[in-house]
Amino acid sequence: MNFHKNHWLLFSVICFGFIGLSLIVGILPAIWVQNNSEPMPGAQPMTEIVQRGIDVYVAEGCVACHTQQVRPLEMDAVWGRPSAPGDYAYVTPSSWWAPYAPAVLGSERTGPDLTNVGARQSSDVWQYMHLYNPRSVVPDSVMPAYPWLFDRVTSVPSGKTAVPVPADFAPKDGSLVVPNEKGEALVAYLLSLKQPSLTAAPVTPEPEAAEPAPAGEPASAALPGVAAGPQAAAEQEASEAPATQEQPEAAPAPAATPEPAAPAAAEEPAAPVTAEEPTTPAPPAAEEATTPAAEEAPISWDEELGSATYTAHCAACHQATGQGIPNAFPPLADDPVVTADDPTEHVTTVLHGKQGSTINGVTYGAAMPPFAAQLSDEEIAAVVNHERTSWGNSAPLVTPADVAALRGGGQ
Ligand code: HEC
Ligand code: HEC
Repeated sequence: MNFHKNHWLLFSVICFGFIGLSLIVGILPAIWVQNNSEPMPGAQPMTEIVQRGIDVYVAEGCVACHTQQVRPLEMDAVWGRPSAPGDYAYVTPSSWWAPYAPAVLGSERTGPDLTNVGARQSSDVWQYMHLYNPRSVVPDSVMPAYPWLFDRVTSVPSGKTAVPVPADFAPKDGSLVVPNEKGEALVAYLLSLKQPSLTAAPVTPEPEAAEPAPAGEPASAALPGVAAGPQAAAEQEASEAPATQEQPEAAPAPAATPEPAAPAAAEEPAAPVTAEEPTTPAPPAAEEATTPAAEEAPISWDEELGSATYTAHCAACHQATGQGIPNAFPPLADDPVVTADDPTEHVTTVLHGKQGSTINGVTYGAAMPPFAAQLSDEEIAAVVNHERTSWGNSAPLVTPADVAALRGGGQ
């Protein structure tokens, strides 16, 4: 009985050792996480059409270019808060012969992370145009077109709306484009991708991180490992973390500390990316400048913030040129609201959205999304001023205080 003489013994120890370690280190923890992650507070269960949308998403290979996982890294802050296991609790196996959840996390970012795309781009009309041909809304896009998610029809079936595809991209035979079942399911899925926000309350929440610690089952030992992954990474970011192996042991207590630290650490340096940094210094400066001199002094505003906000939140529809897309999204160059002396309607439109207006004789089927929840007063003032001074427009400017005054009051 010794390894040098009995090759079967040698073989089986290695073989079963390998299988056993794989089970303990990889497979059981993964099953445990899949079966024991509670959905995030405030997360909505998937509707039936969203479930079908996930299947289309996987079948079309969107995951080859898009991730759905926000890492606790500075560079990921633009995509939302760091993802947690509970974010995927509703992503469940779609059939008995594939007993694992569909792989939506992805590992390749040729295109943007889609974790929060439903909040970022909430317009179904935009999503349809983009899927029919990405170049119709993003001129330089390298994303493939998915025309087979649409039907070409001569008259629009009841209950459907034709996609306002720009002439250059529309079918040459003059037929209309409507989404088919797969297209509708995929867009329903994309619009459902919204990160439920975690309440910023310091101590009580984090059921995800707190729960596994007390449990003492063998498999649960792995969860602190899972949880410690992002934490350890975040800590390494913030400071030189000590040996990461000690992390799991210490998980129960520090779990509370690194968690709040991670977003904080991610947000502060991330400011240049999201253009939040300029906003903080800007308001005092702007107020100091405007308050004493009142009407006479010209309003000073952050032009960089204005154009960055426009690029990030408005250009997808109104385009970098301010020309919009004919019959889909109105031009803002020479627009009556944008060039009006009274900026009230301009600001309330950006705050609360708008739908169904007839602008210069064209009635738009798409809605203008509300931005009150996404953008600060400084950002809205800057983007409004950007529009009021770009593309040949020259209209009176607004201050963050003007925006704050209109924010509460609804339309
Ligand atoms: C070859 C890589 C590739 C594939 C495959 C791909 N995309 Fe994209 N996607 C991109 C790129 C690049 C962008 C950024 C440019 C743009 O907006 O078109 C993008 C942008 C997007 C956006 C807009 C994101 C945002 O933040 O504005 C959505 C939504 C999207 N893709 C969904 C999909 C879906 C759904 C599929 C599968 C049907 C898919 N993509 C397949 C590369 C890809
Ligand atoms: C999903 C596409 C979309 C995005 C993104 C978008 N808009 Fe709009 N916007 C529209 C549509 C569609 C309308 C027309 C609404 C209507 O018919 O009432 C509109 C209308 C407007 C109007 C009013 C024009 C008028 O004459 O009534 C302004 C001003 C405006 N948008 C500014 C913005 C700003 C600023 C942003 C970014 C913070 C933005 N939009 C982002 C689609 C969009």
